Amino acid sequence: MPEKRVEPKDRSTVQSLMRLWPYVKPVRKRLFGAALVAIAASCVGLVIPLVLKWMVDGPVADRDPGGVWLGALYLLLLGIGEAALFGVRRWMVARPLAGVEASMRADLYRHLQRLPVAFHDRWPSGQLLSRATTDLMLLRQFLAFPLTFLLVNGATVLIGFVILLMQQWTLGLVLLAPAAPLMILCLVFETKFSAVARRAQDQVGDLTTVVEESVLGIRIIKGFGRHRSQALAFRTLTERLRTTELAKARLLAGIWASITLLPELAIGAALVIGTVQVADGDLSAGTLVAFLSTALALRWPIESIGFLLAMSQESATATQRFFEVMDVAEEAEASGVAGQAPDEGPTRGEMVFEGVEFRYPDAEPGSEPVLARIDLRIRPGETMALVGATGSGKTTLTALVPRLHDATAGRITLDGTDITAMPRERLRELVSVAFEEPTLFSAGVGENVLMGAEGAGEDELRRALAIAQADFAHGLPQGVGTQVGEQGLSLSGGQRQRLALARAVVGRPRFLVLDDPLSALDVHTEALVEAALRQVLAETTAIVVAHRPSTVMLADRVALLSQGRIAAVGTHQELLRGSAEYAWLMSGAEGVPEAPGVPEAPEAPEVPDAPDAPDAPAEDAFPDLSAEDLLAEKGTR
Ligand SMILES: Nc1ncnc2c1ncn2[C@@H]1O[C@H](COP(=O)(O)OP(=O)(O)OP(=O)(O)O)[C@@H](O)[C@H]1O
Ligand SMILES: [Mg+2]
Repeated sequence: MPEKRVEPKDRSTVQSLMRLWPYVKPVRKRLFGAALVAIAASCVGLVIPLVLKWMVDGPVADRDPGGVWLGALYLLLLGIGEAALFGVRRWMVARPLAGVEASMRADLYRHLQRLPVAFHDRWPSGQLLSRATTDLMLLRQFLAFPLTFLLVNGATVLIGFVILLMQQWTLGLVLLAPAAPLMILCLVFETKFSAVARRAQDQVGDLTTVVEESVLGIRIIKGFGRHRSQALAFRTLTERLRTTELAKARLLAGIWASITLLPELAIGAALVIGTVQVADGDLSAGTLVAFLSTALALRWPIESIGFLLAMSQESATATQRFFEVMDVAEEAEASGVAGQAPDEGPTRGEMVFEGVEFRYPDAEPGSEPVLARIDLRIRPGETMALVGATGSGKTTLTALVPRLHDATAGRITLDGTDITAMPRERLRELVSVAFEEPTLFSAGVGENVLMGAEGAGEDELRRALAIAQADFAHGLPQGVGTQVGEQGLSLSGGQRQRLALARAVVGRPRFLVLDDPLSALDVHTEALVEAALRQVLAETTAIVVAHRPSTVMLADRVALLSQGRIAAVGTHQELLRGSAEYAWLMSGAEGVPEAPGVPEAPEAPEVPDAPDAPDAPAEDAFPDLSAEDLLAEKGTR
């Protein structure tokens, strides 16, 4: 469901729309030119009644058929001229405005890419989607139509009334009488409509979110037979949107009725008064005809003002929604000296956490931080396994290194440089990541892997695929060019994980952050990936989140994370002996039946003798391969 939103009421319609100026500026001449053309077209339309007057008072009164034909020809030409001018207007605005819409969308997309992860955690994706599509479309329509026509129709009405007053000012005043009440009505309408329009657009966003989630989560929905409740949720939202749209329609109907009715009454009154004046001989028949046809020609410009205002209102709301996203600050760039980078000295590859504390931006104030007092020194070339119960903060800790989130206190340094003082580009060159959820994009397998490194080529790709045991990619129908579907759905979980791993290692990063990268692999593939990973890990400094003892064996040392704190650091053996929680976690990972199923209570582990019998658990955990063997192998590198 949508989050707390900034209630939009601090800007008027005009103020909101004014913010579009930077986008409109490049096409301002075209727009203005188009408006002038449209005004010219309207003026041509206003000349028609004057020709009528000439016809009625001239050829018609004189019973001269030739003159009538000539008048008809004039009228035809004027009509064609008016239509042609409106056509020119449309042609003038169509292309530049498509450009405006495109550039706004591009800006929004670019901005979304640069917003911090915390923003995306908070905002439902449907809201962003609807802003990038529906709202921007509304804005293009606004610039193409209501914006011009508010101006054009305003000018037409003004010119028309000048003509009316010049022809017969008393009758003109009769027609002008409804102007004041209409204006008041329009103002009231605008305020009311603005609130409903905003609600409708937000509800479209909510609806988009539900649709998007159901499409992405279709397996869950089907698997649990939730399609009915999902359909119900959808229907509830559509009902809500329908109610809002009906409220909009009611408001529109009201304003439309008044805008049509009042001028119509005025025209009726003018007709009666005018006829009496003609009968009395105070007014020529031609003038009355001209007067009335001018008044009728003004009906459309006046009537249209209602829905032009409504469209402008929706556009103002769309603008607000657009800028609500655009106004969110992008990720702050490096605070320190720009361009500062870790030196290539002998300490190449040291990662240090100093007093790191982290709480999520939306955490309750005063609640315990997710991570606290994290002090960890990972030596150059070392691999540190991060072990902890589920929810202990492992993923959060790994996300701090590539600065997906920024630590709320303390600092993380790479070779002595604070990561917040490094340009992000540089940081992300140094650090590679693979997350629990391997995300693949709709692109070729090779492209997905090569995303991990700027400018990497065929050789690097082949090497990375080999390391991640992802050689299956060569055997796909089009080899590494094979498209993987949305989020790589057409691949198995393990295949996706291996591709994500290949992506992490393809750039030979100095620092590697792996969040449980082997969880979806079968034992045999895992052993193969581990063997290959060992080569990569030998060249880099790495943090590897691990749940299974076999993954832990890849590491030189292990850090145990317990409820957001580092509870112990040491080798696998040291921790097995020294930490009951660690021993419990490792044995649990082996699926020992009597292992407690509640991870929140690791203080009461049921691993008897663990501290006293150093060799026993290791042998239990690795029936085929002793832990010492593996450690010895690692030590030789
Ligand atoms: N985006 C977020 N916003 C707020 N809280 C979060 C967010 N992500 C995680 N948390 C909370 O932070 C805590 C640590 O989560 P984290 O994902 O780091 O655990 P983990 O150790 O990786 O667990 P697992 O082993 O299950 O992957 C959890 O209590 C979780 O509810
Ligand atoms: Mg995790």
